[in-house]
Formats: sequence, C-alpha cells, structure tokens
Amino acid sequence: MSLKKAINQVSVPAPAKVNLFLSVLGKRADGYHDLVSVVAKLRLYDLVTVETVAEENSLSCDCLGETALIGIRNLAEDAVSAWRQATGVRVGIRVVIDKRIPLQAGLGGGSSNAVATLLGLNSMMESPMGLDQLMGIASKIGSDCPSFLLPDLCIMRGRGERMSGVHPKRAEELKGRRIILFKPSLGFPTEEIYELMARGGKYSRAEDANQRLEDWEKGRLSLEELLSNDLESAVFSKYLFVPELFELLRNEFSLRPLVSGSGSCCFCIGSRETPWKEVEKSIRKAWGSETFVEVVDFV
Ligand code: C5P
Repeated sequence: MSLKKAINQVSVPAPAKVNLFLSVLGKRADGYHDLVSVVAKLRLYDLVTVETVAEENSLSCDCLGETALIGIRNLAEDAVSAWRQATGVRVGIRVVIDKRIPLQAGLGGGSSNAVATLLGLNSMMESPMGLDQLMGIASKIGSDCPSFLLPDLCIMRGRGERMSGVHPKRAEELKGRRIILFKPSLGFPTEEIYELMARGGKYSRAEDANQRLEDWEKGRLSLEELLSNDLESAVFSKYLFVPELFELLRNEFSLRPLVSGSGSCCFCIGSRETPWKEVEKSIRKAWGSETFVEVVDFV
C-alpha cells in the first residue's frame, strides 16, 4: 500500500461524545464489561493534524494547550502504530492535537483523537481502507473508538465494538437541543469506577436494557426517560459532591443531570427556557470557579 504523493498534511476535527444511556450487563472473561450504550456526538472538538515527515518509522505526538499530556503515551500514537501494522507503510508521522475536550472526562477525547488520526492517515492513502477494516483497527485501540467512526447518534454493544445506528427520528429530535457540560477539576479513573461497580455486582439485565432502547426508538419512551447510566452509583459512592449538585440542579432548574461514561464530566440537556447563565452560576458556586462549564449543541 502507498500514500498519495500530493498530500503530506491533513487536519481532522475530533468531536466529544456523551453517553445518553449506559447499561452495564456484566463482567467478561477478558476483564472488560459488556455494555449497551447510546452515544451522541457534540459540537465540541479537538483538531488533529497528521503530517508525514522525512525520517522513516519516526512518530511524534504533541498536544497543544495540554501540559498534562506531555510525555504520556497517547491513543493517537497507538492509532499510528495500528495503521502501520495494517498497511505496512513506514513513513514518519507527526501528530499535533489542539485540545479543547477536557481529559479524564468520559467525553471520549482520547478515543476521538485516535480515530481522527486514523481517518487522517487513511485519507492520505492511494487506496483507503473501508469502514469494516477501520472498525476492526479502532476496536483494538480502545473500547470507545469504533463509535467515533459513525457520524452522529449510535448504539454500541459488547465491549464497544458492535455498532448500530438509531432511528432517524430520534437523531432528528436531538438536533437543535443544547447541552451543558460541567466537569470538576479532578478526573475520575475509568478502571476504578468499573471496579467499584463490579464490586457492587448490580448489573442490568440485557433484556431490560434492550427493551428500554426499543421503547425509545419506537417513540414510547422520551429522551428524558431514557437518560440513565449504570456507572453513576459507583461515581456517587466515591464522589459525594456529584449527587449533591445533581439534587440542586433538579430542584432549582428541573433539569435531569447525568454522568457521562465513567465521568468526571456531567451534563444536562436543556430546553428553550433553560436559564443557562443561572445554571452555570450555580455549578460554579458548588464546584468552584475552575470548573469546566460549556454549553454546546449536538452534532
Ligand atoms: O478500552 P479502554 O482502554 O477505553 O478501557 C479503559 C478501562 O475501562 C478498561 O481497562 C476497563 O477497566 C474499563 N472498561 C470495561 N469495560 C468496557 C470498557 C472499559 O471494563 N466495555
């Protein structure tokens, strides 16, 4: 396989995601958990630039504006290695990531960066790989990665490798709705949250999760009724400031707050009447002025 001669640099936007629904069905023999989750992309992007450099097999990755990532192996580097293995192309690669998605947030930033890297590299090929092959590579890089190969709302199953679309009406309903993201200054470690959940041993039944999804897809359940996350009880048991703020947001603004993935970013989907500035003020008052707060649209 070979690269197009005319292109030596591409920039690819990497969106953030939230989990609107996350059911954990049980622990698998490989240590991961079987999930059913509805994943929605947001208009909050990192920008990933991939360029070829002269030195064969070289690989560098810089994250602009994120000192916490200096010297830490990045999923984007794993994407380059996986792409090299799949294609045999050995050209030197430099990846530069302009970060806006907060880290350790449950917003999928690292996974999205890896997929944007893969898509950027793929677009430089004379004969690009198809979606199936890209899915196979993405699922090896990280559980969340395949969901970033589909453009907007999707359902993920298994460890995260089995993807399907949702009824177009449900995707349509999300368009134009705004969502407030709020993340405390600390991140929550994914592995630990799953471990806490596993110790509790309270998994959802696959039949119940699938029934709820079907009810939502067929319009028998509203989006607000669908919103849930099985990892939330593990988060609540360790980080008590989260349920405290959730209660306040429910009581003061009639919002329905939720943790995204394993956190630490949380979100509320608003309506036309939502007083965003007031909500933001309450969040900052509770969690401090350094809290990440951003109102964004769904993709
Ligand atoms: O695949 P990824 O590296 O994103 O997963 C991070 C951690 O989250 C895993 O090491 C595992 O502890 C947990 N996880 C899980 N089941 C999943 C996805 C993630 O237990 N389906």
